[in-house]
Amino acid sequence: MSSIKHVAIIMDGNGRWANRRLRPRIWGHVRGSAVVSDIVRAADDIGLKALTMYAFSTENWSRPLEEVSTLFRLLKKFLIKEKARILANNIKFKVIGEIQNLPHETISLIKEMEALTAEATGLKLTFAFNYGGRAEILRAVNAFHLNYPGRTMTENDLNDLMYRPETGDVDLMIRTGGEQRISNFLLWQMAYAEMYFTPTRWPDFTPSEFKKIIEHVSCRERRFGNVCGQTALEHSMEKAETNKSVFIKGANL
Ligand code: IPE
Ligand code: IPE
Ligand code: MG
Repeated sequence: MSSIKHVAIIMDGNGRWANRRLRPRIWGHVRGSAVVSDIVRAADDIGLKALTMYAFSTENWSRPLEEVSTLFRLLKKFLIKEKARILANNIKFKVIGEIQNLPHETISLIKEMEALTAEATGLKLTFAFNYGGRAEILRAVNAFHLNYPGRTMTENDLNDLMYRPETGDVDLMIRTGGEQRISNFLLWQMAYAEMYFTPTRWPDFTPSEFKKIIEHVSCRERRFGNVCGQTALEHSMEKAETNKSVFIKGANL
């Protein structure tokens, strides 16, 4: 069984994709939004537990107003267009980020989708919208100190105060568009994530490339601080054996 259960995607390269075709950047976003639906379907098909997609960062507010409003419009369109399929496929949907600044209609659609899918047991689909990794951590730290003044925070405390704790750590982060950075995405959850950067721009990304990346990364050895070629269990068993023989040797001397 694949060790990749939670995939996070930075959907990048829409603007460059459009520019190369001498089209306005927003054309790239429109084409990119169709790919979102394809990749959600693929994630569901291959049985991933969680898929988190970076759709709008806290830094993206600095883009031209027309581009920002197009991204908002596309989120709304996705929620309307995909509603039936999300419900039919038992997908559990949530938006992470500060959504209170979005248009009222979009907030209602998000809340409605979250409520309708609250009991779903399939793929946990998350859109990071008006999301920033630092903001998420700060929000959690401030909430903790407000509720438990003077107490020391543990990793579990912080984990529980993330926007969507049940999705847990990211196993694989994919970034399209060729840049090799994480742009303030899921900073806490990606501590041990595998990283895969593809030059493919988001509107050209396909379910087939997505599946190939997952297959490829599943073959990488994830060591979590352990040594090469050994699982944690094998390693600890071997260590116990070595200690035993050192001890016996010592006793014989
Ligand atoms: C990613 O594509 C989409 C968002 C950030 C919302 P970009 O718009 O960043 O495309 P490039 O990186 O300029 O090509
Ligand atoms: C990251 O892409 C944010 C999203 C994909 C939503 P950007 O294109 O905004 O990232 P930078 O600014 O190039 O790092
Ligand atoms: Mg970009």
